[in-house]
Amino acid sequence: MSKLWGGRFTQPTDKFVEEFTASIEFDQRLWRYDIQGSKVHAAMLGRQGIIGVAEAEQISAGLDAILAEIEAGKVEFTVALEDIHMNVESRLIERIGAVGGKLHTGRSRNDQVALDIRLYLRDEIDIILGYLRALEDALLQQAEANLDIIMPGFTHLQTAQPILYSHHLLAYREMIARDISRLHDMRARFNVLPLGAGALAGTTFPIDREWVAQQLGFDGVTRNSLDSVSDRDFAIEFCSGASLLMMHLSRLAEELILWSSADFNFIELSDAFCTGSSIMPQKKNPDVPELVRGKTGRVYGNLISLLTLMKSLPLAYNKDMQEDKEPLFDTIDTVKGSLKVFAEMIAQMQVKGANMRVAAARGFSTATDVADYCVRKGLPFRQAHEVVGKTVRYCVENGKDIPDLSLEEFRAFSALIDADIYDFITLEASVNARSATGGTARAAVERELARARAQRNG
Ligand code: ARG
Repeated sequence: MSKLWGGRFTQPTDKFVEEFTASIEFDQRLWRYDIQGSKVHAAMLGRQGIIGVAEAEQISAGLDAILAEIEAGKVEFTVALEDIHMNVESRLIERIGAVGGKLHTGRSRNDQVALDIRLYLRDEIDIILGYLRALEDALLQQAEANLDIIMPGFTHLQTAQPILYSHHLLAYREMIARDISRLHDMRARFNVLPLGAGALAGTTFPIDREWVAQQLGFDGVTRNSLDSVSDRDFAIEFCSGASLLMMHLSRLAEELILWSSADFNFIELSDAFCTGSSIMPQKKNPDVPELVRGKTGRVYGNLISLLTLMKSLPLAYNKDMQEDKEPLFDTIDTVKGSLKVFAEMIAQMQVKGANMRVAAARGFSTATDVADYCVRKGLPFRQAHEVVGKTVRYCVENGKDIPDLSLEEFRAFSALIDADIYDFITLEASVNARSATGGTARAAVERELARARAQRNG
């Protein structure tokens, strides 16, 4: 296999070095984008009179044929041709002859690969946005279908105050909405054409970058050739956004694992998302959330790999940068898989509202409501806190719960407490009292649900 850059060499590449330096094993997934970019580049060369229009058409037809060949699984990529760019170009020359060699006029693999990754990542981000919306939908549906279920809200994983289960789900919806917005931000930032930078300094040919950018759906062109070929911010930004997103999924995963345990018994994950044990017949393990929790680690690792890869690299392109692909690809695959499985799992999840309610009533979850009651009767909050602290201690020592106390028992701690206290310490009263924007009151949650729905559809 003759090398496209073989001119200045007298000896063949060492066989192992050939394999060691090749990226075709992993960058072949860019083939569609490589061809897409090359077709527009060729058309531009023709329009600008840099090559003949008929030549440009020949190249374009040749690239179309290669696209069909690859789609049909008929092309065998070879390590001897190093990467996807040279595999495609070499195949083109094989098919259409010497004119195929004109495609690389006014461009370099350095700006070509920068283009291919952007085109690819842009498409993948759009797919991921679709998955994120599906997960958002699943969360919204769960929240709407279970609007009235009350569960314990936790701090330090200790029962804190009763909340609506729908409110809890909407917290995750907020995280997902931020993940969506972050992906939109980064997409807009990197959606500019790097092609035209050449190897590093630009090109001597009268190219039309703006036309190419427009054809490929970019919002503009990059402004510095050195930066164009050496910028991988967009890959790092993506892995950073992906890390945040996976961190969110890992938190939800952790809660689903806890909630499906016999001790919590808040939810039932569908059998389709669990597996059994080879030794303990009773086991139904929440493998899917566990795996997603675990996969979060590899995405963080990919982010650190990329940051470390780019650290201190001198301008402009360096071969090190070929190592950008596997962490990026793995992140994309991991995020897509995790989101896909999560959306479905959430949609099918069964809630055990009665168990949640029992748990919400435990742990003196309405203690804050008694304190707030005393405050409304004029007691400074610090003193009210003290009064209720003592009340709780009394309950603990006497094996009682706050709502079980008689009025006399209440009044032993504060004479401000009247018979209407009982209206404030039901689970519903506690939840619905928190009605300011963003609170767990049913009305507040309904408002946020409507807002989320409008945002989702808008
Ligand atoms: N396979 C290379 C990469 O992924 C393409 C660019 C190669 N450029 C070069 N001058 N060797 O980075």
